[in-house]
Amino acid sequence: MQKKLESLIHGTPFATLKQASFELTERYRAQQKPFLTQKQHYLAYLITRMPATLAAITQVLKTIPITEIESLLDLGAGPGTGLLAAQSIFPSLKQATLLETDPEFIKLGKKLIDKEVTWQQAHLPCELIPHDLVLMSYSLNEIPDPEIVVTQAFQAAKKILVLIEPGTPQGYARIINMRSHLLSLGAHIVAPCPHALACPMHGNDWCHFPARVERSKLHRQLKEGELGYEDEKFSYLIVSHEALNTPQARIIAKPDIHKGWLQLSLCTVGRIETQKFSAKDKDAYKKARKSSWGDAFNY
Ligand SMILES: C[S@@+](CC[C@H](N)C(=O)[O-])C[C@H]1O[C@@H](n2cnc3c(N)ncnc32)[C@H](O)[C@@H]1O
Repeated sequence: MQKKLESLIHGTPFATLKQASFELTERYRAQQKPFLTQKQHYLAYLITRMPATLAAITQVLKTIPITEIESLLDLGAGPGTGLLAAQSIFPSLKQATLLETDPEFIKLGKKLIDKEVTWQQAHLPCELIPHDLVLMSYSLNEIPDPEIVVTQAFQAAKKILVLIEPGTPQGYARIINMRSHLLSLGAHIVAPCPHALACPMHGNDWCHFPARVERSKLHRQLKEGELGYEDEKFSYLIVSHEALNTPQARIIAKPDIHKGWLQLSLCTVGRIETQKFSAKDKDAYKKARKSSWGDAFNY
């Protein structure tokens, strides 16, 4: 993949990519649409944004407690990020439809993806063909009539519907609105919430999780970052038509680790609780020590 990316940017001066990367960040931050207007914005997206959305999607798909996923419908597929994640998680995947409105993304996606897939150039809302897994990653914010599209997406999801948004208060707000809407349609929540009651997050808090992204040298240079990684923050929701096994709790913040004890922030049935684990209580401590922000947790 890295080689393919490099061949796509071959011949584009570094300064052009850097300026494009800066503009892209600014446009997303200011919600200035359309976000990508020039060829170099797409290249900057592939280098700086795609690895982050890929990491977030991969992490979310790992949460799905069903392994038999044979088909994927990705709505607002961009360059095909969702397919790359799905094929790494579901060996059973046989067919994918990548629906995307922007021909430039489709053109780049065709160069990046070897697997035989159906690229559908279409503008949501539109008629959707049922697939096992329907994915909307980082696209809710861009589509008109999100409630209509999410209703259609849920109807088209034979097994699972996944929504992913940036882990910002605004991204979380979009997820939480769609959560209420999907519950009104009879959806069952699979993750992250271990319940279907009102979200207990209040005040300045919002439900979000981190995904570790390895950064290429070019990525570091474009973003002027020193570290070899960054943490992409995302909010998400997984729902199904049938009730599936859900955990008792989910870890909703970075574990607070001290010498001899640690504390987990847990979302349980309709409330948030902080639970302390002492090293003296060996088994429970060991289990908590191995857990990370975003993991399911059973007492
Ligand atoms: C931020 S990108 C996310 C791409 C990809 N899903 C990912 O996670 O990397 C959002 C995508 O949604 C597409 N999009 C926006 N509005 C759309 C619409 N009405 N119908 C189909 N695709 C749309 C954009 O062209 C863009 O490719």
